[in-house]
Amino acid sequence: MPENKIYIFDTTLRDGEQVPGCKLNTKEKIEIAIALEELGVDIIEAGFPISSPGDFQSVAEIGKVVKNAVVCGLSRAVQKDIEVAAEALRTAARRRIHTGIGTSDFHIKSKFNSNRDEILERAVQAVKWARNFTDDVEFYAEDAGRTDNEYLARVVEAVIAAGATTVNIPDTTGYCLPHQYGEKIAFLRNNVNNIDKAILSCHCHNDLGLATANSIAGVAAGARQIECTINGLGERAGNTALEEVVMVIKQHQASLGFYTDVNAKMLNPLSRLVSDTMRMPVQPNKAIVGANAFAHSSGIHQDGFLKDAQTYEIINPDEVGAEGSRIVLTARSGRSALAHRFQKIGFEFNRNDIDVLYQQFLQVADTKKEVHNEDLDALATAYQKSVVV
Ligand code: KIV
Ligand code: ZN
Repeated sequence: MPENKIYIFDTTLRDGEQVPGCKLNTKEKIEIAIALEELGVDIIEAGFPISSPGDFQSVAEIGKVVKNAVVCGLSRAVQKDIEVAAEALRTAARRRIHTGIGTSDFHIKSKFNSNRDEILERAVQAVKWARNFTDDVEFYAEDAGRTDNEYLARVVEAVIAAGATTVNIPDTTGYCLPHQYGEKIAFLRNNVNNIDKAILSCHCHNDLGLATANSIAGVAAGARQIECTINGLGERAGNTALEEVVMVIKQHQASLGFYTDVNAKMLNPLSRLVSDTMRMPVQPNKAIVGANAFAHSSGIHQDGFLKDAQTYEIINPDEVGAEGSRIVLTARSGRSALAHRFQKIGFEFNRNDIDVLYQQFLQVADTKKEVHNEDLDALATAYQKSVVV
């Protein structure tokens, strides 16, 4: 296992699909799974087989078409769940069972009306049972973000001893601060005796907008897998956005020292595919894949960008498969952006012309959200006529 590789575990088809209104049929799920494999993710969580016959079928069909990535099915720490997940995964060349149970006191007391020792035992039994069906077993300690670290370390050590090869530390409620999540991972690395026998995984929800920051803090502290979804889809405020963690790791390769096998050029096409298929629009200001991620609209930014794109862009849009940078003309735009756009649509004006045209442009711009080429064409044509006369 390469030391610096961060494994990308995509859960768009499981945690992402839990979003109300995002339900997919088997055909749609297969199309996305094929695209995810092309993108280069390492693990595809294809569904929760016991949850419905449709999900069972989707996991089984995805297993047939995915060639290199590991196909994963979710289960609770319940024998029947695990058996059904194993059955659905039979078609897959490489299969993983993802089983687990809540470990925070909220879950132990309110959800299970149980105690820490009993939950630890159920965790161990679930992993042992899952190991009857595959060597690749991931255990999740649900609500690990709010689980006491000493107890979490006991659970992690016990499930690794029982055969878990990956241990997922979900911040299920998106509660942790980045330094707290990082410290949790570091605590496990330092206090679990058999920790070198498993990969620690980050699974962070975005309730406070910290999912990406927490996942990065997790890998910086020693985790080597990130669970994420395209466009950050997921329960409530969503999961860690795949495109964000991949690009953080790429942009900061020199300081973090990690890499992923994801082909960044496919990030925008895949974002569109998922958004269209799930009928879930992407917010315009979404990092990496939003419509405005490479748009510049204020005069100061446009001027700097036109002199050197790197002044206001840390990523070349081509690198992430985006259509390109956009200069948006609004009442906040400046003369250089206006002159640049006139040039693009075939009008050459000198500085004096632009001074006059700029005042006319502002009058139009104040009446609308964005000034389009048709508006500029009309302005330029009228101006040329007035000058000739
Ligand atoms: O958020 C969570 O805890 C989960 C687990 C089921 C892995 O999605
Ligand atoms: Zn989750």
